[in-house]
Amino acid sequence: MTPTSKAPEEAREDGLGWGRSVLMCPPEHFDVTYSINVWMDPDAHVDFDRTWRQWEDLVSTLEEAGTEVRTVPAVPGLPDMVFTANAGIVDGTTFTPARMSKPERAPEIDHVRARFEELGWTIEPPPAAPQEGAGDALAFDGGLVVGYGTRSSASAYAGLRARNGWTVTALELTDPRYYHVDLGFCPLDDRTAMVLPEAFTAAGRGALAELVEDPVILTPEEGAAFCANAVVTGHTVVMPQCTPRLGRELGRRGFEPAVCDVSEFGKAGGGCRCLTLALDVELDRAASFTAEVVG
Ligand code: ARG
Repeated sequence: MTPTSKAPEEAREDGLGWGRSVLMCPPEHFDVTYSINVWMDPDAHVDFDRTWRQWEDLVSTLEEAGTEVRTVPAVPGLPDMVFTANAGIVDGTTFTPARMSKPERAPEIDHVRARFEELGWTIEPPPAAPQEGAGDALAFDGGLVVGYGTRSSASAYAGLRARNGWTVTALELTDPRYYHVDLGFCPLDDRTAMVLPEAFTAAGRGALAELVEDPVILTPEEGAAFCANAVVTGHTVVMPQCTPRLGRELGRRGFEPAVCDVSEFGKAGGGCRCLTLALDVELDRAASFTAEVVG
């Protein structure tokens, strides 16, 4: 909640400034039992041993990269609860629970909320309209880059912005393959991000061109391989797949890809980022709003 406006060179040295602490949910009850996005086929076979191996591999890769992993217990009958990114929005030690647009996922929220209560965090009221957590709201340069139109609704953000004084760049999502913003956008530091142009409308692409000084543009193939769905921790980019081309683009900017195969979770339409919720995000709050709260 303390705004820090870094000089570009400094920002680059520091990397993203968040992603050192995440919340994850073990895949005990993970499965594909319903279809709420175009990637999900309930008839597809999920290999449960492989699921565990992939999840544990992701945990150890994150830990080796210097990220602390906390967990929330899995709940029977909630197969998508592994995708903690959708549980809510973190700012400092406040947690704003999501309002899931899909009834199948709605019961997850109370369990995650209880975990945050246990950790002693402040729980804010959920938005009035559907908003699917950090999966649709990523911190970039002190503000939030949010998606709306597929799962989250644009009106959810007006209330959140008014209540918290957050700076929000809202991008419309129309492609059913990229139904959350974290499938098409991935902040790398305060001026660099991976961007999948086809996930956005012309207006959204324009807004991103204004916002991101040095974008790493993904090819359609990289987008479909969920390359944007990466967890950035320091200068390590933990991603479900990477191409030699993308590896070079990241390397040129001082980032190193660490590929973690999470293909079993891909059957539910998720990658590395979806399986984590960053716990160390601090967003800027508009000065007038801060004054209102403090004074
Ligand atoms: N099956 C889940 C859903 O459709 C996948 C969630 C992916 N999460 C994400 N942050 N993109 O809701």
